[in-house]
Amino acid sequence: MKIGIGNDHSGLQMKQEIVGFLQEKGHEVVNYGTDESERCDYPIYGERVGRAVAAGDVDRGILICGTGLGISLAANKVRGIRAVVCSEPCTARLSRQHNDANVLAFGARIVGIEMAKMIIETWLDTEFEGGRHKRRVDMIAEIEDR
Ligand code: RB5
Repeated sequence: MKIGIGNDHSGLQMKQEIVGFLQEKGHEVVNYGTDESERCDYPIYGERVGRAVAAGDVDRGILICGTGLGISLAANKVRGIRAVVCSEPCTARLSRQHNDANVLAFGARIVGIEMAKMIIETWLDTEFEGGRHKRRVDMIAEIEDR
């Protein structure tokens, strides 16, 4: 899978570890995040990854900031983006099965590296169930047109 990854300064170290993890698993990773440790603004990176996913430049997005919250809020402002914050694998799985989430966010100050890897692995390996869930996901898209 081709995965776009984005981060602010809080997520830098974890991003570096996650890039290696994804590459070891055979994924192609495109880096849209900062590689500087200076304080920076998470909306920039949330929007960048959101736009890359929405444009089809990458298949899915992964975002890391301190909490995962701000960067996911920014990504969700891009039409077609369904970004979710997950701190454990159960919601990561359900965000794919029920919500067809196309961007995953988590907090480098909230989850450890091993938990982050489990969340990502679960999220990437789980398919959208469609059916009754598709109608609801379509309803979310309709909100963008109103
Ligand atoms: C940066 O200090 C922090 O606010 C940011 O990484 C993120 O947690 C915001 O939601």
